[in-house]
Amino acid sequence: MTAHRVCTVDELPPGQRRIIEINGRSIGVFNLDGDYHAIRNVCPHQRAPLCMGRVSGTTLPSPAGEYRYGREGRIVRCPWHGWEFDITTGQSVFNPHRVRVKSYEVAVEPAEGCPAATRTVGADEEDPSVETFEVTVDQQWVVVHV
Ligand code: FES
Repeated sequence: MTAHRVCTVDELPPGQRRIIEINGRSIGVFNLDGDYHAIRNVCPHQRAPLCMGRVSGTTLPSPAGEYRYGREGRIVRCPWHGWEFDITTGQSVFNPHRVRVKSYEVAVEPAEGCPAATRTVGADEEDPSVETFEVTVDQQWVVVHV
């Protein structure tokens, strides 16, 4: 597996997604409330751009006459014919063990050469009139392993 940078953490806030291309593969990377997941952007039905679909929840198994809704924010619905997939596993909702899309490992990693650091500018100054500010560099990358 090879690591590929997607973007900085700031560029992919919760509830957002990014579609990227790696070695000719289109992949959707999602931020689900701070957890990152990636799946292939190709629906196994008729090859629609799956990751462009609406993200929501789905109905859960329930007794006749009852409708339960759950998994909010984890389900992507194919924009062409509505097949639903769990973003966290790639499994389809209707046949999870036989119909699925490829999922990829996603990690958050510090930027090389730019470690998290805190420095107080002007802290060594003896003149009390010098105003000091704390400066923090905290750059992290969302990285997908393909
Ligand atoms: S192409 Fe996705 S449901 Fe048909």
